[in-house]
Amino acid sequence: MAVPSPQGGTATGPGVQRPEGHVLNPNDLPFLGAGLGYRSPIHDQITAHVDDLDWLELFTDQFLPLTGERRERLGRLSAGWRCVPHGLELSVGGDAREDDGYLDQVAKVVAALDAPWFSDHLCFSDAGGVRLGHFAPLPWTREAALRVAERARRAQDHVGRPLLLENITYEFSLGGDLTEAQFIETVVDNAGCGLLLDVTNVHTNAVNHGFDAVAFLDAIPLERVVQLHVAGGRRVDGRLLDSHDSPVPEEVWELVDHVTARAPVRGILVERDDLFPADFGELLGEVGRARSALAGAGGVTAGRDRR
Ligand SMILES: [Fe+2]
Repeated sequence: MAVPSPQGGTATGPGVQRPEGHVLNPNDLPFLGAGLGYRSPIHDQITAHVDDLDWLELFTDQFLPLTGERRERLGRLSAGWRCVPHGLELSVGGDAREDDGYLDQVAKVVAALDAPWFSDHLCFSDAGGVRLGHFAPLPWTREAALRVAERARRAQDHVGRPLLLENITYEFSLGGDLTEAQFIETVVDNAGCGLLLDVTNVHTNAVNHGFDAVAFLDAIPLERVVQLHVAGGRRVDGRLLDSHDSPVPEEVWELVDHVTARAPVRGILVERDDLFPADFGELLGEVGRARSALAGAGGVTAGRDRR
């Protein structure tokens, strides 16, 4: 299937119309600094380096429902760091019935952490009530964007904290009357939410689908980017896999510098999900590189909110 240009300004469909009403301003949110995704295989190394990590990101769904041992574990982690919950199950682009029970549970985690924001993915992961087990891309249409925005706004209102939506990687595009950048802008503008910009996902899509990553970054609403993700993948048969099991490549760091020079980023999070290095210092080095990117963006670390 052909992949339309995801860069802005080339779509033939309707342009982005900015709605009236609440607009999330990342500068109103606390500055977190550079953090690491909490994963149980590196629990001991993380807890041994309290002073080297500004914050942690937790998988929301691993703490649902928030009772018993899960609540105690969450309490121990949040006693040491500012923690932000990152979800996998919202399926904001899905067709599931409104699931207040799930949002109630997410809200409990957000409240227990006193998290400044919560996040999930700009995709759908269920269809007809069936879990797909992966993130599926949405059609880049204004109709779809407005429907997703309505669901995102509802989730944000229900939980009561700012919601960030994360751009995903995709094997193929469904196309539509918008570019990908316009689709993203239409969603966040109409939802009044923010962006979790996964810079590695941008790089991965740019390589696999043959577009210019910098042009894409310049086309999305950078003023709505609150948080970044960075990770490393691997190349298989000429394509990049979003495997989160290797060091963050230099090309991604260069894109990070491009973003932090232009966006009010409040935190960068290093994701490593597998093949953890024997030397935890490698991950700490990546967190340090992220901290440098934030510091180089204009001294915003002065406002760091640290527990
Ligand atoms: Fe990510």
